[in-house]
Amino acid sequence: MKIQTKDLTLEEKLNLLSGETIWTTNQTNGKLKSIWMSDGPHGLRKLQDTSWGTWETTVEATAMPNLGLVANSWDKEMFYLMGSTIADDCIDNNVDVLLAPGVNIKRTPLCGRNFEYVSEDPFLAGTLAKEYIDGVQDKGIGTSLKHFAINNREYDRLFQSSDLDERTMMEIYFKAFEIALRAKPWTVMCSYNPVNGVYASENKKLLDTYLRKTFGFDGVIVSDWGAVHNRYKSLKATLDIEMPNSTVAFDNLKNAYDKGLITMEEIDASVERILTLIEKTENDKKKTTTTPTERHENAVKISSESMVLLKNEDNILPIKNGQSVAVAGMFANRPPYGGGGSAIVKTKYKEEPLSKLLKDKLPNSEIKAQTAYEDGVNKNFKLKEKILNAYGSDVSIVCVGNDSTIEAECFDRTTIKLLPHQINTIKELAKVNENTVVLLYVGSAVDVSDWIDDVKAVVLVGFAGEGVNESVSDILTGKVCPSGKLAETYPLTLEDTYSEDYMGNGGAELYSDGIFVGYRYYDASDAQVMFPFGYGLSYANFTYSDLEVVKTGDTDFTVKYKITNNSDIDAKEISQVYVKDVFSMVVRPEKELKGFSKDLIKAGETKTVEVKLDFSSFAYYSTAFDKWHVENGDFEILVGSSSQDILLKAKVNVSLPNETQQSNEWDV
Ligand code: BGC
Repeated sequence: MKIQTKDLTLEEKLNLLSGETIWTTNQTNGKLKSIWMSDGPHGLRKLQDTSWGTWETTVEATAMPNLGLVANSWDKEMFYLMGSTIADDCIDNNVDVLLAPGVNIKRTPLCGRNFEYVSEDPFLAGTLAKEYIDGVQDKGIGTSLKHFAINNREYDRLFQSSDLDERTMMEIYFKAFEIALRAKPWTVMCSYNPVNGVYASENKKLLDTYLRKTFGFDGVIVSDWGAVHNRYKSLKATLDIEMPNSTVAFDNLKNAYDKGLITMEEIDASVERILTLIEKTENDKKKTTTTPTERHENAVKISSESMVLLKNEDNILPIKNGQSVAVAGMFANRPPYGGGGSAIVKTKYKEEPLSKLLKDKLPNSEIKAQTAYEDGVNKNFKLKEKILNAYGSDVSIVCVGNDSTIEAECFDRTTIKLLPHQINTIKELAKVNENTVVLLYVGSAVDVSDWIDDVKAVVLVGFAGEGVNESVSDILTGKVCPSGKLAETYPLTLEDTYSEDYMGNGGAELYSDGIFVGYRYYDASDAQVMFPFGYGLSYANFTYSDLEVVKTGDTDFTVKYKITNNSDIDAKEISQVYVKDVFSMVVRPEKELKGFSKDLIKAGETKTVEVKLDFSSFAYYSTAFDKWHVENGDFEILVGSSSQDILLKAKVNVSLPNETQQSNEWDV
């Protein structure tokens, strides 16, 4: 029978409000089960004991591709599969709650944790994260949607306040959470930073008004590890569990209770939610459905759906069997599986060298691999061997990018360029081989402008987890047709991004870009970008036609269009539906993503795609009405293969009852 609040003493209740150890909740004198929480989000990072631990004391698990890469799949099934596969590792290791996923918006490419986050677009981030949560929770394991909220840099991440207006919060920074919350994550993790001057952990407006009352979250709010500054103030903001364990929380709460600063009702409300969480963890759904080998195969499947073909001049890719290939760069042997920090996963999988996998898939090709490798991403030598291999090969592959020392939790990047010696290597190899292909192992957007014109092809490999070389060799040899499209803009240079170097007053950062984040910013400023949001090439080519928009309700529409695969290979295409408000009384983005579809279209086939639009597709957040509002008038429905390649357009009219609208210039 479920233990109830009345069965616990005041002391036990107060103990329950913070962790017992770094990873576990309090067992209140053996009355309650202690819940184990572990990171997330790219696989299980469980320490073997309850200490902070080290790499050595982390259990082995499947290292999945990073969310920043998987986002490029635009594939709900892949997000679900990723969640359910990681859940199997949680089940095997008695973990109750996975501390994932993160849906903070990518406001600047410099943010050190972008590799952990999904997108610059909240609709895409929320829609995909919801599937991940379902994937985990359908297996009886809880999730922690994080980091709530408005944590978009690592710079001074514990203390710098994010200052912004309500419309921007609702349309951009909360929106991804709002959508993902529909999957009912068992917990939400608050962020470290203050929001509008008050720490997220004790920001009642943030946690209680928005998260609980507006978005209906009735689960447990967990603090980020060390985000609580004062336990009783955070309790008043409805934060339920402070993590990790604290030596001062109990006394802080007891004193506050004795002084009447917190009430028994406030304590019981949190205890009640924690008891419900414990009950949820005791379910009979926890049955693994994959073997460790299948989990590895899932990691490979997910990464190959997510890599993006960024350039492919003269159709140099896929490489044909019989063409000689040179492979350069240490990542070909030791690819980075992910960024640094709490998302690092320890796997026992031993990566096969890219050159070996290419040889398996191109048996008639000569593959010249670099024999000696630099140790560490900052080293540069053995250029001579790379040049000699590249010279005279039909195709020259260069593996470059970042690793967990460059993209990591706790700090931001200061540049989005590759390391100078990597740029130099690309340029030197391109001089001796005109068929140079760059493989980019990066966790988030980089500036490719120094070298993009020197090379024929570029594949965004990303931080792809274990088996990355299996996925990338499948793509290079055409076994898999690339189908990923960018979930974040690749700007021309850092200077072209909005928030370059903008740190506010040192203690606070004003989000003066408002709702103009990502492509919304580049659209509004007419800035050129290198690769737009939603962009990605394929070995196939598609044409779009026959757009029809059928009205099914006041603000409900079905958007139908046809996509034809004009090539002789089966391939997947991600099509995107944007909505543009033709004229509005408030400033609105040029267009916003409101729907998408990823479809397998067989060679020569024409497929009809359907995307539904509803009230939220047309609404903006009105601070005058204090709610989402649709303004009557014309809207354009834009269907494209990327945010900058709009191929079909239609116009629809929305005409809601007059009483929902502000007056016309003069209503009579
Ligand atoms: C990170 C969280 C993580 C937690 C526990 C924090 O530093 O911000 O994302 O879940 O540590 O490792």
